[in-house]
Amino acid sequence: MAVGDSRRGALGRGGLLALVAAVLAWACPAGALENGLARTPPMGWLHWERFLCQTDCSQDPRRCISEKLFMQMADLMVSEGWRDVGYQYLCIDDCWMAPSRDEKGRLQPDPKRFPSGIAKLADYIHSKGLKLGIYADVGNKTCAGFPGSYGYYELDAQTFASWGVDLLKFDGCYCDTVDLLAEGYKTMSRALNKTGRSIVYSCEWPLYQKLMQKPNYTEIKQFCNYWRNFADIYDAWNSIRNVLDWTTLHQDNLTDVAGPGGWNDPDMLVIGNFGLSWDQQVTQMALWAMMAAPLLMSNDLRHISSASKALLQNKEVIAINQDPLGKQGYQITKDNNFELWERPLSGGAYAIAIVNRQEIGGPQTYKFSLTFLGNGLACNPACSIQQILPTSRNLGLHNWVSFLKVLVNPTGTVLLKSVVIEEKRVVGGTHALGIS
Ligand code: GAL
Repeated sequence: MAVGDSRRGALGRGGLLALVAAVLAWACPAGALENGLARTPPMGWLHWERFLCQTDCSQDPRRCISEKLFMQMADLMVSEGWRDVGYQYLCIDDCWMAPSRDEKGRLQPDPKRFPSGIAKLADYIHSKGLKLGIYADVGNKTCAGFPGSYGYYELDAQTFASWGVDLLKFDGCYCDTVDLLAEGYKTMSRALNKTGRSIVYSCEWPLYQKLMQKPNYTEIKQFCNYWRNFADIYDAWNSIRNVLDWTTLHQDNLTDVAGPGGWNDPDMLVIGNFGLSWDQQVTQMALWAMMAAPLLMSNDLRHISSASKALLQNKEVIAINQDPLGKQGYQITKDNNFELWERPLSGGAYAIAIVNRQEIGGPQTYKFSLTFLGNGLACNPACSIQQILPTSRNLGLHNWVSFLKVLVNPTGTVLLKSVVIEEKRVVGGTHALGIS
């Protein structure tokens, strides 16, 4: 009797099915794309918001989408300390391709702008200790009109793997039906896995699905490492505000699904560009950390103020974003123009953000009770509180009936971290703090 037969005899048909189910459940636990990647939100740089689709290098050699641009950014990511604080993925967006596939049907880069080819660029980027991201589209064309992957999913996945690509942003333009969209995103996910190369998979599935029907986040999380839900970000407070409002409105669905291996993507960080005031940049950084969002900067690392750079490289904020518990934060209350957000962190700590949404006047004070944070557990019986943004300072020890008072600039945010303390080494009663 063959080994397989004897097992079948011992277990019976039901037993065998149960065993198969148990093995499958172990190998691919329900709920998440378990490709071992994106255990914390991916960090890096993505060209789109800042550089868009300039393909004319003779007219604009410093800003056109070319291998030179990515090599310069790679150099700066190392020399200016970006890589060392965690920004690892250097990502190409739309407009890298030649207008048609090669004679074997493979995608190819524009020969003038990427004369060395993507594999060579990947080698360069890898030699710097960075990873390379690339862009393609589930439909017939990319959003900017370059060749789409529809009908070529397997081939494109293999091409990207053979080039040494580490992340794929898969857009959803030119895909006619919700079924084709879903099938396309799933097929590409399987095709990437089949290559055997570790390739982070970034989807825009829910954003495009939303136009036709309600996204099924449980399904999306089984196939994607992170996913865009909302319209493209742009370099203005209005855009940041829209992302935050939409996220708050849908936060019950969104926070439930996020976690190690799968994240909601509120789109790129536009810090260091032209449109946000200092306080608005602080708000974007603080809230992207609260939302456990991928931190993909889209700015020009050759021209960035030291203040924006320090904000983007702030290790305490990055540590909140990258917290290993992987729980997405949420708004707990809106009180006139103030929003109070919390995010549970590992070790019983909490990140707390107070956003002042008022767009007129000067700084305003917000006073809130620590009693209700973390369902009553964040500061129970006591906690130490550190202010992280806009400046770092120790706010001392508090107990669970303490009140905190913070002063927040219009459209700005105060970001705090509380760490629970067991023994009552605390100044008792109501404890007011002024924060400037
Ligand atoms: C959009 C996408 C943007 C950018 C652009 C490129 O659909 O949301 O992030 O990738 O296409 O054409």
